[in-house]
Amino acid sequence: MEISQIDLSRVPEHVAIIMDGNGRWAKQQGEMRLFGHNIGVESVRKTLKAAQQLKVKYLTLYAFSTENWNRQKEEEDGLMELLVNTIAGEADELHASGVRLAAIGDITGLPASCQCELQEAIKKTQENTTITLVLALNYSARWEIMNAVKNIAQEVKQNNIDTDLITEELFQAHLSTKDIPDPELLIRTSGEHRLSNFLLWQAAYTEFYFTPVLWPDFTGEHLMEAVYDFQNR
Ligand code: FPP
Repeated sequence: MEISQIDLSRVPEHVAIIMDGNGRWAKQQGEMRLFGHNIGVESVRKTLKAAQQLKVKYLTLYAFSTENWNRQKEEEDGLMELLVNTIAGEADELHASGVRLAAIGDITGLPASCQCELQEAIKKTQENTTITLVLALNYSARWEIMNAVKNIAQEVKQNNIDTDLITEELFQAHLSTKDIPDPELLIRTSGEHRLSNFLLWQAAYTEFYFTPVLWPDFTGEHLMEAVYDFQNR
């Protein structure tokens, strides 16, 4: 698959990815699950680079779901540490290549060190315009929807809005994706065919692409294959 096979005038503006299969990949290699997550960071780099070549404007990665807290403590801590280190270590390079970093999810539920590195990197890159890399951290779509409902109810209670004014647009403005367009393409790796509580509202019209490739094996070429498939539907 080469970039020349892709119609660059019809590339999805927003691609979302459920990065799945790190644990199975590690097991296949006879390694600990965390090793899979480490190699998964390489796949993030490759995918981001390819997305920039394709001129994708928003790339959303499901990095840590609310359900991930059910994992073994050691894996959970390791994954958090990896996220903090990666964000801290990559911030300068992301900035240099014009990436704007954003986050969706219940960020207040992350360890303080993670929140701190994240806020710093978001602030540093806030003026960049090449691509927005959206990390879904401690994210769950039902949490996001419930949160929007609570906030709107509060505003109604305080007489700030009338119930007649509750429209799709108003609801959307209360989601953590309020400044981000809906994804046109959603990719899930590792052969699972589920949405797993990811972007339930935003994926109403999204095209899905499923691949058996495990996330640590995913490359820029795989992203191009997904975009090519999307363009030929
Ligand atoms: C799913 O595989 C993957 C995750 C829960 C973690 C993904 C995180 C990374 C690749 C690190 C990302 C880093 C940044 C900076 C975005 P799994 O563990 O559920 O695999 P399994 O289904 O095979 O068990």
